[in-house]
Order: sequence, then structure tokens, then C-alpha cells
Amino acid sequence: AGQPVLGETAANASLDRARSDDSGCVLTTNQGVPVGDNQNSLKAGLRGPTLMEDFILREKLTHFDHERIPERVVHARGSAAHGYFECYKEQSKHTRAALFAKAGKRTPVFVRFSTVAGERGSTDTARDVRGFAVKFYTDEGNWDLVGNNIPVFFIQDAMKFPDLVHAVKPEPHNGMPQAASAHDTFWDFASLSPEITHMLMWAMSDRAIPRSYRMMQGFGVHTFRLVNAKGQSVFCKFHWSPMAGTHSLVWDEAVKISGADSDFHRRDLWEAIECGEYPEYELAFQVFTEAQAEAFPFDVLDPTKLIPEELVPLVPVGKMVLNRNPDNFFAETEQVAFCTAHIVPGIDFSNDPLLQGRIHSYVDTQLTRLGGANFHEIPINAPLAPLHNNQRDGIHRQAINRGRVAYEPNSLAGGCPFQAGAKGFNSFPAPAEGDKVRGKPEKFAEHYGQARLFWISQTPVEQDHIVHAFRFELSKVQTVAIRQRIVAMLRNVDETLAQDLADALGLALPPVMPRASLQPLPAYAPSPALSLFFR
Ligand code: HEM
Repeated sequence: AGQPVLGETAANASLDRARSDDSGCVLTTNQGVPVGDNQNSLKAGLRGPTLMEDFILREKLTHFDHERIPERVVHARGSAAHGYFECYKEQSKHTRAALFAKAGKRTPVFVRFSTVAGERGSTDTARDVRGFAVKFYTDEGNWDLVGNNIPVFFIQDAMKFPDLVHAVKPEPHNGMPQAASAHDTFWDFASLSPEITHMLMWAMSDRAIPRSYRMMQGFGVHTFRLVNAKGQSVFCKFHWSPMAGTHSLVWDEAVKISGADSDFHRRDLWEAIECGEYPEYELAFQVFTEAQAEAFPFDVLDPTKLIPEELVPLVPVGKMVLNRNPDNFFAETEQVAFCTAHIVPGIDFSNDPLLQGRIHSYVDTQLTRLGGANFHEIPINAPLAPLHNNQRDGIHRQAINRGRVAYEPNSLAGGCPFQAGAKGFNSFPAPAEGDKVRGKPEKFAEHYGQARLFWISQTPVEQDHIVHAFRFELSKVQTVAIRQRIVAMLRNVDETLAQDLADALGLALPPVMPRASLQPLPAYAPSPALSLFFR
């Protein structure tokens, strides 16, 4: 276990530059000075005060004092692994991205799974969404597919993300609850944001208590673009499916495991890889055209909607294998910086207003979290593809760029000026025109159709779990008006569900929350295929 395999070798060789094995070496200071005594500080007499000149003690304490960096503002708790992605069949019809160039091609990856709300030391089996972030070290630079294990999201616009997170995180006056949504602020926000309904159904389902990171789906959530070598583009949603199947805990297990082993998912991933049971996931494209998108009853730019497989089937394109644990949690798992702005030739953004905001947020937060503009040089973040540009300096710069020319155009650099051009990344020239406005497209106003389809797709046992999750969560909410608003909202999903909750919470059934929608509900009917998809 842990040995590099074909396709991962290059990534390992690159990280070897930074790997350090100190066993059997003489102890030194950071300046390489051999240390004479690592147990006792320098004092004026054996019982006297410690001397200011003890540079060995001071260096040791100073470094220790600065060992911690800020945790991620969300997804603070996570676990990661190395591996590779193998393409099944070339996908050049749709994309020129290097990793899909030919059958059998392997691209190294680093993957981090996470919970969203809890702090760095919180428990693994909390009811929460799970992050599923993949860094592909492609021949043409790093592509980060920063996804979740649920195919839709809470909100439609990046403008609302800080509010969502402030509502979800522990309440600011008392720091509770850790890694759970069972509190007034989250449900207050939810009850006033009908667009959350579809995501809420998933979050109260068993999907939010996965059995293992090895048994979890992953979704890019947003609509992206694929672009081929001719410059033609189609829309695409990305789906990961675990080869081990998608499995969940039940709530009683999750609660007990949480008490007995808060590292349950971290340990499971680590041990599976150590004993050679490598987790595997299949990647599928869901490809559709602008014309198809126009005809759907929902907007493909709305991240609270998925695209049912009856409308657009999944096409498997490759498989990911995780076969190596990190050597050092901090250096790799903690310092890895995923970013939705990291795309490569052949992949591009859509105008999804949540995605557009994310393009800004990740680098921005990492400038603080990882201290300055050079965190792309940290070994786990550095591309395997060659990196050449005129960027210079900044705190903790590692590269020693030679020569006097760091500008363009220039005539002094000699034989090899940089060449930007047609072969490089060029944004797909999607037309963009319109008045500067704040607001939402009309189709964004329908919030309940897919929430209801999800509910209908669940078996009676699964529905029962959802009801119990709502009961548990809402019973923790102190403010009666919030409970009422959630029940009123759920009347748009299913009357029995709403009535059941009202009874359990001792409420009279409140009037149904008015629909903001101008749109008819989705025209397609629930079907076995849809149920399969939701499973
Ligand atoms: C982490 C912002 C929506 C998945 C983060 C981080 C920020 C952030 C600031 C911390 C990054 C770091 O410190 O390295 C946002 C904003 C969003 C948004 C502003 C909406 C406007 C989403 C969505 C998904 C997602 C829709 C899933 C599709 C993740 C994941 C991580 C993360 C997986 C953890 C990455 C890791 O393992 O390091 N997000 N996020 N986020 N976000 Fe988002």
C-alpha cells in the first residue's frame, strides 16, 4: 500500500522535492546548527532565570507559537488522499481537456472530502453536506472540480453565501451547536428562503449522513461548459459515483459513532488505503446543448435544480482510484487550496450566479489562510505542468527567477520570450449583453417541483428517516414561528409530511406558504429511472 502506480509517479516525484525524512539525523536548529541540549534551557545558575540569549529555546518556542494557521471558513474538517484518474475513452468531440484526450490516459489527483459546518476538530458523522474536491494535475495545468455529495445547493446567488454560512455556523454568542444544523439561526434563515426547499429535503435525507467517504457520490453542482478543439461548446454537469455503491448510516448509528469515534470517516479512508482497498469513483458527463437547456422547465443556471436523467442521460468517461495516503496532514490535507477558478483549456464556466461568485471567493480566502500570494508554490498546490510567467516576489517566494526581464513585451529576454496564444486557454466567447440589473431570471422562482420529486422518489423507509430528521431538527428550534414557517413551506412539497411534522411539534397546520412561482411545475412525471437516479 502507498506505493506509486503508473500515472501517479510524476506527482510523487514532484512531491519528493519537499519530502523530508529526519530519522537517524543529528538535531539542528533551523539554521542547521547542531544542538547540544534539547531538554534544558540556558539559565543563570541551575535555579536562576532563563537567559535572553538562549536562541535555541527562543527559536523552538517561536516556531511552535506560529504552528497553527486559520482553518477554512467553511469545510474546515476534512480528510484527503492521492490517486489517479483514468480516461475510459477520448472525449475530443466535446472537450479538448488533456485528461480526456485518450483512452487509458492517467492523470494524478489529490482529493479532499469534508464536512461543511463544523470546526476543524468536529465530528465526522454529523448531519451535514460533504465536500468532494478533486485537484487534477493535468498536462495543461491544474483543474479543480470543487463539488459536494449532494447535486443541488441551498441558495441561487453568491450574494447570499455569507448569510447562509453565518446562519449555519455555531451561534456567535455561545459557539453552539458544533457541526449540526439543529438550531434557530439555520432554520430561521431556511424558513425565510424558499429556494432552499429542494436542498433541505436532501439534507434531511440519509444522504447527509454517509456511511463512508468511499460510499458517497460527488457532484460539480453547477452547469459548466465543455469546449472542443474547434471552439464548439456544450453544457455539462459532472457526476462522481462510488464503485462501492452509495450507502448511508442511519441516525442512531451516526449519533453513537460520533460519540465513540469522531474520526470515523477519516479513519475509514486511511485504513482502506493502507490495506489496499482503494476507493474508486466513476466520473460521468451529463452533456446538453443550449437549445435543450432553453426547453427545460427549470433554468440550468439555477444551482437549486438538477437535470433528471430522463432528460439527459449520464455518460461515464473515466474512473478515479485513491491509492496513497498523504505523508503529512498539515503539508498536504491542510495546505491544499482548491479553487473553482482553476480550469483548463477545454472546460469553462457557465453564468450560474453562484459559480460566478465562487470564482472570486476561493483565492481570496486562501490569500489569508495560506499567507500571501505564493501559495501556488506549496508542493501540494504546484502544477505538474510547467509554470512560466512574469509574476515575481511576494511573501515567502520560493522560485529564484533568473534574468532581468519580467515584463512583456520585451526585446531583451533573448531566445525565448513567452508565447501566449491560440493554443492556450481562451474563454469561450459566449454572448453577454443586457442592462446592468440585480434580480433573478423568471424560472429561478419555482422552488418546490424538484423537492417534491425527490420526496416521491424515496422509499417509505427513507421517507420515514426524512420525517424523523425534520422532527429532531425542528424540535431543537425554540422559536415557534420558525417551526410554523418550515411546516408551511413543506406543504408545497407534501401535505402528509407537513401534517406529520405539525402533529409531532404540537402545531396547528399553518396556511401553505405562498408560491412565488410564475412557472408551472416540471412537466415530467416521476418514474423508476428518476428514482434510481435519486438513489
Ligand atoms: C470551501 C466559498 C459554494 C464546495 C470553501 C471555502 C470558501 C468557499 C471560502 C474555503 C476555501 C479554503 O479555505 O481553501 C464558497 C462560496 C460559495 C460556495 C462563496 C457560493 C457562492 C459551494 C458550492 C460547493 C462548494 C456550491 C459545491 C458544489 C466547497 C468545498 C470546499 C469549499 C468542497 C472545501 C475544499 C477543500 O476541501 O479544501 N468554499 N463556496 N462550495 N467549498 Fe465552497
